Amino acid sequence: MQIAIDGPASAGKSTIAKLIAKNLNFVYCDTGAMYRTVTLLAKKHNVGYGDTLNILKLMSEHKIHFLNKEDGQHVLLDDEDVSDAIRTEEITNNVSQVSAIKEVRTELVEMQRDLANDIDIVMDGRDIGTTVLPHAEVKIFLIASVEVRAQRRFKENIERGIDTPLKELQDEIAARDYKDSHREISPLKKASDAIEVDTSDMTIEQVVERVTEIVNEHK
Ligand code: CDP
Ligand code: CDP
Repeated sequence: MQIAIDGPASAGKSTIAKLIAKNLNFVYCDTGAMYRTVTLLAKKHNVGYGDTLNILKLMSEHKIHFLNKEDGQHVLLDDEDVSDAIRTEEITNNVSQVSAIKEVRTELVEMQRDLANDIDIVMDGRDIGTTVLPHAEVKIFLIASVEVRAQRRFKENIERGIDTPLKELQDEIAARDYKDSHREISPLKKASDAIEVDTSDMTIEQVVERVTEIVNEHK
């Protein structure tokens, strides 16, 4: 069974996808982590975020893979654990430029389809229901108002000791949503057969309950 969870930044995709995968004993795949890792690769090698040729060269020379540990999914770039390094503001603010490159998407989508082949999986991202797994049995499109999403990220940051002003986070989220929804190749978009869940006024537990109901209806 394939479960696709898409939606804008900070809608709760990875939180919900991880919990659903854990409850169902499915594999979880965070596709955003892959685009973030390619962005980190460019940064590490001083390659411009729009420099397609050199980014593709770096992708052919390095390996991105996932490791499932007790405390969740870790992302490795070659042998280095980059799970934290891909979450910095620098990467967050530039990932949409890298993810808009057609050739980068082609390679990562192929990796994602390979990962989902023949296993029960929950995959989250922006184009899972529309492009990566168009035949997924369950497609969820998670949304929440930009104010609520900024507030959630603000709280998450405070817990990590980062104090970015709320307004800045709201502008960053809105800018990334705009770029992700307006790019030419597989933009962020609700698949016609996806079920939209507005989580603005829902707790994590309530969202998990609602998504579980939807999954059970499709079993
Ligand atoms: O967790 P957050 O909402 O901050 O973002 P993410 O899921 O880690 O994704 C980071 C970025 O990767 C997005 O803003 C998109 O530009 C890109 N992305 C994409 O283009 N396609 C996907 N399937 C997943 C992420
Ligand atoms: O993966 P995505 O960027 O869509 O969002 P996330 O990283 O899963 O969630 C962003 C933040 O919102 C996390 O701190 C979650 O704990 C929180 N969240 C929440 O407070 N209420 C929800 N219904 C869903 C997520």
